[in-house]
Parts: sequence; structure tokens; C-alpha cells
Amino acid sequence: MDIREVGVIGLGTMGAGIAEVFARGGLAVTAVEADAAALDRGMAALNGSLARAVSRGRLSGDEQARIAARVSPGTALGSLAGADLVVEVVPERLAIKRQVLADLDRICRPDAVIATNTSSLSVTAIAAGSARPGRVVGMHFFNPAPVMALVEVVTTVLTDQAVAQAVTDLARHLGKTPVRVADRAGFVANALLLPYLNHAVRLLETGYATREDIDAAATVGIGLPMGPLALLDLIGLDTSLAILEVLDREFGGTRCTPAPLLRRLAAAGRTGRKGGGGFYDYPPPASATGGSPDGDNADQHLPPGTVTLIDGGEAADDGDGAGSELAGLIAAAGVNLTRNPVHASDLVVVATGPAGGVLGPALAAARAADAVGLHLVTPSLAELVTTPLASAAALASARALLARLGLRVVRCPDRPGLLVGALLYPHLRDAVVMVADGYASPADVDAAMTLGCGYPRGPMRLLAEAGPRQAVGVLAAMHAGYGDPAFAPPPLLTEFAAAGLALGR
Ligand code: 3HC
Repeated sequence: MDIREVGVIGLGTMGAGIAEVFARGGLAVTAVEADAAALDRGMAALNGSLARAVSRGRLSGDEQARIAARVSPGTALGSLAGADLVVEVVPERLAIKRQVLADLDRICRPDAVIATNTSSLSVTAIAAGSARPGRVVGMHFFNPAPVMALVEVVTTVLTDQAVAQAVTDLARHLGKTPVRVADRAGFVANALLLPYLNHAVRLLETGYATREDIDAAATVGIGLPMGPLALLDLIGLDTSLAILEVLDREFGGTRCTPAPLLRRLAAAGRTGRKGGGGFYDYPPPASATGGSPDGDNADQHLPPGTVTLIDGGEAADDGDGAGSELAGLIAAAGVNLTRNPVHASDLVVVATGPAGGVLGPALAAARAADAVGLHLVTPSLAELVTTPLASAAALASARALLARLGLRVVRCPDRPGLLVGALLYPHLRDAVVMVADGYASPADVDAAMTLGCGYPRGPMRLLAEAGPRQAVGVLAAMHAGYGDPAFAPPPLLTEFAAAGLALGR
């Protein structure tokens, strides 16, 4: 099957990027929008992206002109009559998509391939509305389409295998990595990504952590390219909500039930970057510092002269390393250190692992007002764990200490998972469950998240690094603490933890 001429219907955030990808791949692109104003906006986005590539020295002026010349914009679906492939990127409503496919049945050649970039709807339901369901396939790109390397090629029980192969080959020709998946809500990447993003919104709306700390936990703590709230703004809060609603219908549970705050922001028109603001404002206000505005300002406090360091009950998960590493850092910063809780000191630090457990040792030391928990997540990031009894002075003193140690700090309550673990381990659990379901292989899960969402390492690799035993420990603590079955360690993970193995290795 030779695909040279393609049509793209819908030039919104994704559509303009997809048209650019095809044009960069040397294909003739007919780009269709509903009206002239939407067409102008879409073409401006496409041309802006090319101009940005030129300004960064990634594209020459000649290449830019050649790519732009391959795109023929218009508002008439009739211009798609000669296309070998048409990708629809129209709004995520089944009725609209089915109408477009019915129109294409009349307009396109019988052998043309029709692809949908749907992120949430069933490709089967879309295809069933076509007179040629065997030639309908999902071709799911990731935002920003010119940058993200993944294309999920979604086949239904009706898809002609030659069509799936042609779209897979085309994705490769475009420089993308195709992953073949069956038609299931969210496919691989969105089914893993969106519940994690949703959980981040719940943490924000319940006051568990600040917006900046939640995003820093993901970027500095896990190494992801964007924090979950910034990523929701990129994807669009309305789009994210639509995907979660579909996941909720198919899978249910607290991971997929959209957080009320997400609904409210979307309803208020705070749809993210495209709406001028979502969790953040765009462009960011000049005064934005990216700090963590929670009142316990380190600048106004001196670091403690003497610190009492005690091991938390759960620190064992990290081994004694958590306490010893902190001890080394504190001593190296020139702060007096004692391990004896009855010695006089300005601050008590409970060294904890990712499962938390600060209050017990603080109470046992009879120093709860002076005590905070610390978990060294990476050599550059610490979780500052607060209990309901910690005084404002203790918090400020701990922040001043962490500033002296040169650590980036995220603050969270003394609950299982703390902040980084609460985001990470349920996300890894979802990936294990997907593998256990037989929907995707460990390799496909890792490919989807590295190539589609820019993860430096996929969930299976992250799990192997953290160790299945630690994952089971944190999840079991979260499950016991919240009673939510969404956190229960799944049998496959428990088996691997018991056997000391990593999935997919
Ligand atoms: N269009 C075109 N190119 C873009 C772009 C855009 N909107 N945004 C960034 N780029 C390019 C830049 O030009 C730059 O290219 P260069 O290296 O050749 O000069 C490169 O991307 C890196 O950009 P920046 O230096 O400006 O910014 P970052 O290094 O911070 O990277 C990012 C930006 C690529 C967006 C990175 O933060 C990332 O990978 N984020 C994760 C995005 C993600 O998860 N996407 C998937 C969302 S889910 C989805 O889309 C599915 C859907 O169904 C909802």
C-alpha cells in the first residue's frame, strides 16, 4: 500500500502537529478545518512550529519552505477525494467522528485508509459507523506531535491486517516508533498516564502538597520531563477529563474517577495552555518565582545549631542508608549532630523511608513539636514530612537546614507514600496490572511511556530500580492507610517481590 497523499481533518493542538509531521515526512498534506478562522489558527500554529525549528537551527529556510509548500489548507472535505490516507483529529465526540467518517465514505476512494487520532473513544465504535470498517484504524500521536516519537497503531477486530501494516510502516517512515495495540480504553499510554495525573490533582485539591511541590516531586524526584499539573495544562484539561471519563466507565475506581477540581477547572474554561491558563497561567506572570509558597520561609530562620537525628519506623525500607546519609550531610554542613533524643537540640529530624511513619518516633522521643521527618529521595531532593504536632518554628528551622544542605525540598504530610512515592508507586502498580491483564508487554509499556511521554526510563525499569519489594511495601502501606483497593499490591508484583525478580528483565 503506497501512502503519498494524506488528509488531516481538524487543525487544533494535535492536528496542526500531525499535519507538520506528515509534511516533514515528504507527504502531500491536505489540511481541512471547519471554517476559515480555525484554519488560520491551525496554519499559524503549524508555521510557527516550523519557524521555531528554523530559529533553533534545526531546519534550514529552504527546508521550511519545502515543508510548508507540501501543505494545502482548505475548508472543504471534498478536497480529500484523492487522499490515500485521511486522519481525523476532530473533537472527541462519537457523533461528530461518525459524521466525518460517513462524509469520507462518500468522498474518498474505496481503497483509502481512514485513521482516527482519538485519545479516548473506542476505535471499534468509530469504525462501526463507516461503510469500510476494515480500512479504519487508530493512529494515535502524542503532544507535541512533532517531538514525541510514539504512535499507537490501534486495530479493532474488524481491521484489515494490511491496513494496520501500512499505517505501521508509514509511522516508521515518519521517524516515529509504532506500537501495535488492541482497542481498549486509553490504549497503553493514556491508560497509564491519566490516572497518575488525576491522582496528582487529588493531592492538590486535598491540600496534600502545593502545585509546585507536586510538579517538582515528579521532575526532580522521578526524573520525568514535566510535572503532572504542567502536563495536564499541555494536554488540555478538557481533553484529560474526557479521557478519564472513558477510563472511569471501562475500569472504574478512584484512579480513574475524575478529580472534582479537574472538572471544575475544565468547566470554568481553565483548559490549560490553549485556554490561557489551567493549573498555571500562560504565559507565566513575570513575577513567578517557581518557589513553594507555604509560609515556612527558610530565609527568615537560622539553621539549627544542633540536630537530633533518629531513625523512623519505616526507614528500614531504605536500609539504614537514609539515616546515615542524612547524618553525613548534616555533619558536613557544620551542624552539630546527636543521635540521642534526650540531648538538648534545636530540631529533631526523623529519617524516614518512602512509606513514612514520623509521628510515632517523634512521640516516643517526647519531642513531637520540635520534630519533622526527612526522606532523601535523590541526592538533590528531600521530602520534608510534617506531622500535625510539628511547630511552625520546627518547620522553618528544617527548611533553613535543608537550604544549608543545598537540597531542593518538597513538603508533604506523614502519610504512606509521602509525595514522590504516592505519585510513583500507584502509577507503577497500574503498569504491572496492565501487563498482568495481558494487554501490553513490559517492553511495550516502557516504549509507550518513554517515547510517548518523554520518560527517561519506562515504568518497568523504574520498578526494577526501586525494587519490587520496596514497591510492595509502599503500596501495602498506602492500601492499609487509605483502604483503597487501587493501592493494593497486585499478585504479579507480590510474586516478583517474593522471588526477588524484576518484571520484563
Ligand atoms: N511543537 C513543536 N516542537 C516543540 C514543541 C511544540 N509544541 N514543544 C517543544 N518542541 C521542541 C522544541 O523545538 C525542541 O526541539 P529542538 O531540541 O530540536 O530544538 C524540543 O521540543 C525541546 O523543547 P524545549 O527545549 O522547549 O522544552 P523541553 O526540553 O522542556 O521539552 C517537551 C518539551 C518535549 C514537551 C518535554 O517537556 C516533554 O517530553 N514533555 C512530556 C510531554 C508528554 O508527556 N506528552 C504526551 C502527553 S499525552 C498525549 O499527548 C496523548 C493525548 O491523547 C492526550
